[in-house]
Amino acid sequence: MRALRYQTFADPVDLRVEDVPEPVPAAGEVLVRIHAASVNPVDWKIATGGFRLLVRGGLPRTMGSDFAGEVISSSAGSTRLAPGDRVFGFVDPFTRTGGTFAEFAAIPSEFAHRLPDAVPFRDAAALACVGATAVTLCNLGRVTTGSRVLVNGAAGGVGHMAVQIARARGATVTATSSATRHDFLRALGADACIDYRSVPMDRWPQGFDAVLDCVPNLPRAVQHKRLRRGGSYVTTVPGPVTFLLDPLLNLLGGVQRRGVMLQPDAAVMKEILGYVAQGQLRCSIEQEFPLSEARSAIERSRSGRVQGKILLRVP
Ligand SMILES: NC(=O)c1ccc[n+]([C@@H]2O[C@H](COP(=O)([O-])OP(=O)(O)OC[C@H]3O[C@@H](n4cnc5c(N)ncnc54)[C@H](OP(=O)(O)O)[C@@H]3O)[C@@H](O)[C@H]2O)c1
Repeated sequence: MRALRYQTFADPVDLRVEDVPEPVPAAGEVLVRIHAASVNPVDWKIATGGFRLLVRGGLPRTMGSDFAGEVISSSAGSTRLAPGDRVFGFVDPFTRTGGTFAEFAAIPSEFAHRLPDAVPFRDAAALACVGATAVTLCNLGRVTTGSRVLVNGAAGGVGHMAVQIARARGATVTATSSATRHDFLRALGADACIDYRSVPMDRWPQGFDAVLDCVPNLPRAVQHKRLRRGGSYVTTVPGPVTFLLDPLLNLLGGVQRRGVMLQPDAAVMKEILGYVAQGQLRCSIEQEFPLSEARSAIERSRSGRVQGKILLRVP
């Protein structure tokens, strides 16, 4: 089968589409024929050596975490899914050398979620990781009916999902992006938009119940000033402070700071599919590339300017 692989952690990353043997599913895994995948920044951050201390499994690696496709076979330990089932999801790119930018991938069954016939593979592949991240942001930020929410970095993959999910939960949403993306964000349901390039952070509105930071770049003082007392700041890129210090500071009752650490979660995927079925959530695909042009897809993602998502068609 063909797979997009790299042999070293390096920047620029040397990505090649190579012919490799089909993976054999281990216990608890299913073999999935990939129909579509999408690019997440973590895919190239790992390949360029950004997370060397966290990555397990060595080299070479097949890139990719999001996928949608069809179950071909399942191992003895996997009874939940059967050949022919349509599935979607994301795998943990830190622990696996076999990613999803390939014609087949062995997927741990807890990461593969049934996909209704009504949802096309391309839409499902685009929204798996960013949709799950956005639901988790809203859960950690306790976003509910009547919440006032600021989504920072709203035009990207996670951000444009967070805008729609917060709105679907009944929140009022203010979104930051460059000015050219404001029409896009209003069409997704944003109530107000801020051009972060021309309006300094200290002039952004205050009193939010939750700040969902998808860039993430808001200094702690800015987080504090934008939130009401006891409001929630949630980041997509948690660091040591988020895990070691913030849980203690949160006990004092001021700003509640948390970070997203994605885990497979069937309830989260069900919530995403529910919004899709009700027409409250759609993933915007900026551009689509065949696997043979995956390097261009990665370059576009690395620009940091993607509106919505970049899709990979497989094969
Ligand atoms: N913890 C987790 O499990 C998890 C899961 C998913 C993602 N992440 C991380 O979350 C981050 C966002 O992911 P993503 O997929 O949304 O990335 P992305 O799609 O590449 O984000 C691109 C968007 O960021 C916007 N942007 C860039 N700088 C900005 C700024 N200063 N202010 C406001 N918007 C800005 C751009 O909008 P403009 O063109 O308008 O500037 C562009 O639309 C990444 O660092 C990713 O690694 C973490």
